[in-house]
Amino acid sequence: MKFQKRLPWTALAAAATVALMSASVQAQAPKLKVGLMLPYTGTYAALGVAIENGFRLYLEEQGGKLGGRELEFVKVDDESDPAKATDNVNKLIKRDNVDVIVGTVHSGVAMAMAKAAKDSGTMMIDPNAGADAVTGPMCAKNIFRSSFSNWQPGYAMGEVVAKKGHKKVVTITWKYAAGDESVGGFKESFTKGGGQIVKELTVPFPNVEFQALLTEIASLKPDAVYTFFAGGGAVKFVKDYAAAGLNKTIPLYGAGFLTDGTLEAQGAAAEGLLTTLHYADALNTPRDNAFRLAYVKAYKLQPDVYAVQGYDAAQMLGIGLKATKGDIGNKAGFAAALEKAKIESPRGTFTLGKNHNPVQDFYLRQVVGKENKVVGIASKALADPGRGCRM
Ligand code: BEZ
Repeated sequence: MKFQKRLPWTALAAAATVALMSASVQAQAPKLKVGLMLPYTGTYAALGVAIENGFRLYLEEQGGKLGGRELEFVKVDDESDPAKATDNVNKLIKRDNVDVIVGTVHSGVAMAMAKAAKDSGTMMIDPNAGADAVTGPMCAKNIFRSSFSNWQPGYAMGEVVAKKGHKKVVTITWKYAAGDESVGGFKESFTKGGGQIVKELTVPFPNVEFQALLTEIASLKPDAVYTFFAGGGAVKFVKDYAAAGLNKTIPLYGAGFLTDGTLEAQGAAAEGLLTTLHYADALNTPRDNAFRLAYVKAYKLQPDVYAVQGYDAAQMLGIGLKATKGDIGNKAGFAAALEKAKIESPRGTFTLGKNHNPVQDFYLRQVVGKENKVVGIASKALADPGRGCRM
């Protein structure tokens, strides 16, 4: 009897010791090192800043910890320069020993990051760059995307333009993966819908000398133009298109980056433009309203699609870390949690496809004043085909 009475105390003492030990292990858990590789200069600088803002906002909302771990950041300005990308990402992985890389905006830079992540097994979350290869032939258990594939908004818009009855379209974009693949997605659904691409025009990235090509568009007289430009290039293109008077004669359609985060600078030149994207202004859902309010409060700026993608990259990191109790080395556990997650994004709830690319709605939006207003859903739960992805 005496022995029985004493047993619970012994057990209690043992449990207390274990709890104390695990608390001190937790307290000693080093900060999780996040390598933020984003553009902070050049035509995509504002996009990089918005992604970081969104990421930090989510972290702040979680009390500065994800999966019980504090974060520390090592930042690199990748300058949207693919030539510097391998060196930049290898410095983060090999010199700074980061636990996860978060980046980037430019598809060419992201492909170098994905190669390094795949080779080294480092966790990677891509908060923008749409390079089809990242969730195609380069896909891997440790690579995730919180944004879109370049194919997705292009494909959604091809269906819209075909349904409008346009038959002959000219495309114009930057000559690199994002432009080529955005046009590729557009072409796939537009030609399926009976349309024809009469000319594919390109300028080298990040050139913004559009005059000669706008003159060519005027002489080709297509029914419509489809374009991919983003950031500073999108501002210049929309203004030049209007200044050439083409907005009065040839309707311009684009992947939503054409008018996202750019409307202040584009002014009246953007009025009425139709674009497709996985985010829009005034979605007016409780989730989005709360996000927008918090973002404006924190940064005195309106959020855009890049801020949402940064916010969701942090959410995704949090989901993986929560499931693995902060152990990012548990790659199988991290991946399993994300593969079955429903991510409650300001854009609406999304899941990840087998290739780790968001399966999400694409909105048809129209510029009204300073907003990309929702006109409807161009493509519901659109999944990237993940061509070439073997996991
Ligand atoms: C890209 O390079 O993938 C990209 C850049 C800006 C906006 C969207 C896509």
